Amino acid sequence: KDASMLSKPPMGWNSWNSYGCHTSKLTETTIHQVAEVLVSTGLRDIGYRYVNLDDCWGAVHGARNKSAPLQGDPVRFPSGMKALGDYLHERGMLYGIYSDCGTRTCQGYAGSMGSEALDVKTFADWGVDYLKLDGCWASTKDMKALYTHWSELLRGVREERGGRGIVFSCSWPAYAIDPQKPEHFNFTYVSQICDLWRIYGDISGHWSSVMAIADWWAEHQDVLVPIAGPDSFNDPDMLEVGNGLTKEEGQTQMAIWSILAAPLILGHDPLTMTSDTLEVVSNPEVVAVDQDPAVDQGRRVQSYSHNGTRTYDVWVRRLAGGDVAVALVNVGSETLAVSQLRWSEIGLTPGDSYRARDLWRRIDIGHFNETIPSDSIPGIPPHGAFFIRLIPTEPPTS
Ligand code: GLA
Repeated sequence: KDASMLSKPPMGWNSWNSYGCHTSKLTETTIHQVAEVLVSTGLRDIGYRYVNLDDCWGAVHGARNKSAPLQGDPVRFPSGMKALGDYLHERGMLYGIYSDCGTRTCQGYAGSMGSEALDVKTFADWGVDYLKLDGCWASTKDMKALYTHWSELLRGVREERGGRGIVFSCSWPAYAIDPQKPEHFNFTYVSQICDLWRIYGDISGHWSSVMAIADWWAEHQDVLVPIAGPDSFNDPDMLEVGNGLTKEEGQTQMAIWSILAAPLILGHDPLTMTSDTLEVVSNPEVVAVDQDPAVDQGRRVQSYSHNGTRTYDVWVRRLAGGDVAVALVNVGSETLAVSQLRWSEIGLTPGDSYRARDLWRRIDIGHFNETIPSDSIPGIPPHGAFFIRLIPTEPPTS
């Protein structure tokens, strides 16, 4: 891998979902406050270490002078962009920035096309640890060459730093794939030059948006799952927990994203975070599923319907040591009583014995060797998820 040395999906916060291009919010003062909250609430220590500026941090809107270094908006970032990185690093955080491989960013700020080497040098000088490289104002047919060039430049940074370089988050596939036929796209190549890559359009803080991405994953998981691995991650986009979703919907997004070994990049405003949001995103047992060392991206294995109406989905991820994460997701709008969960539904061998732990309630619910009966499965609220970890109590037979 050229760009960095990731071994687990990155975790952090990104400004886009909550601050967008509201320049009054995208300021040095606000970003400092966000970092303080991530530290004081314990989120940093749980692993949310990247503080990623998204679009609209720049000084220049529109065309730029290609040989002049990028600068942050001097009114909003009066101490300069290197100082912002120093501030984050002093607090044990990592520094993420955003640019675009085209001539402009998606919001029309100056892009990097034609200034790639200069911009990589600038970002490296600022101490940047993570780069999201977007793909507006560029032709998809040029993206292979553009993203390849960036990956080579970023490899240079890693070699110079002698260790961890700049994580390379690529938006290329989200622009270049045919969502109907992602198998026509060379994901294998993307996984060789990018650390993570967007697989789909932009998420928003609505249940329908989260489910559209989850459903798309399920339809194309045979293409997506094999290309990911310990240093390469499909990126279904950011977390919308606390950014428009109900608490239960947020739990469901966390459960599915953890099963997918997705990057956990918070999208809410930490400065107005509720205790429910903090509780959901900081559940250590859920985060541990996402960060499982085996980095085996999971799948949707069942999607049930009743009288023509979809009722619930079952998602499964294999974890290190033979553990298994399972989420039952109520896609309906009534509380759901699930009759049972059989090992045969989730690819386990009947007879193999597991201890089951409810990850949202954080309690053990019993030992089972073929099925979890209905009376051990709580009613699942609308859009909620019953999320469990199965831990083998003896070596599995297969
Ligand atoms: C694109 C990206 C988003 C965000 C915006 C910013 O739409 O996909 O994630 O970065 O640009 O303009």
